[in-house]
Amino acid sequence: MKYNKQIIVALDFSTEKACLDFLQNIDPSLCRVKVGKELFTRCGPVLVTQIKALGYDVFLDLKFHDIPNTVAEALKAAADLGVWMVNVHASGGKAMLNASREALNFDKAPLLIAVTVLTSMGAKDLVQIAVNNSPQQQVQLLADLAVNSGLDGVVCSAQETEILRSQCPNDFKLITPGIRPSGDNADDQKRVVTPRSALDQGSNYLVIGRPITQVSMPADKLNSIIQEIEA
Ligand code: C5P
Repeated sequence: MKYNKQIIVALDFSTEKACLDFLQNIDPSLCRVKVGKELFTRCGPVLVTQIKALGYDVFLDLKFHDIPNTVAEALKAAADLGVWMVNVHASGGKAMLNASREALNFDKAPLLIAVTVLTSMGAKDLVQIAVNNSPQQQVQLLADLAVNSGLDGVVCSAQETEILRSQCPNDFKLITPGIRPSGDNADDQKRVVTPRSALDQGSNYLVIGRPITQVSMPADKLNSIIQEIEA
C-alpha cells in the first residue's frame, strides 16, 4: 500500500515548548497533526499559527456543538487560521450541520468532519440521554445525517470503519483513532487496530498519539509505522 500522509499525530501536549520541541524532530512531509481542546485552551490560536509555519497541516479538533449561528462563526474563525480540517458534533442536528457547511463553502475551505457518538459512550449512556438506538445504530444514523448535510467525513472507531465505508460515498472521509502499531501497548484504548488494517478496512486518516509522541525517537517511530503501512 502506498503511504499518502494518512497519519495525523495527536499533539496531546500541555505546553507550547513540549509541542514545538516534538514537531522540530519530525517531518511535516510525512504526517499531519491534530490540536485538541487541551492544547488549544492552554496555548491558543497563536500556537496553531506556529505549527502551520513549520509546514504542518493542522486538524483543529474542537468538536463544536452549539446553536447554528455560533458554530458557523466559530468555523469561520478556524478557517481564518488556515487549518486543514475541523470538526463538529453531528448530534448538533441538521440545521447546525447545514450552517456549518454553508460557513465553509468556499475554495480551499478546511475539511468539515463530524463526530458521531463518542466512543466513551455505551448503550446505557445513550439511554440516559433518551437515545434508544444501540451505539452502532446511532453512529450509522448520524453518519447518514453528515452525508446528507454535505459534510466531508466523520471520525469513527476502527470497529465502525467497515460498515460506514459500505454505507457512505467513496469520497466521504473516515478518520480513525484507536490505532496501535503491531506490538505496541494499547494504553487506555479498549479496542485497537493496526495502521495497516484500519486503512485496509477503508479508513482515510489515522489519528495516532502516544505511540509516536511518547517515545524517545519519534521520527524513527513514524518511519517504522509508515514502513508497516507500505509493507
Ligand atoms: O494516544 P492515542 O493514540 O490513544 O491518542 C488518540 C487521540 O485520538 C487522542 O487525542 C484522543 O483524544 C483521540 N480520540 C480517541 N478516540 C476517539 C476520538 C478521539 O482516542 N473516539
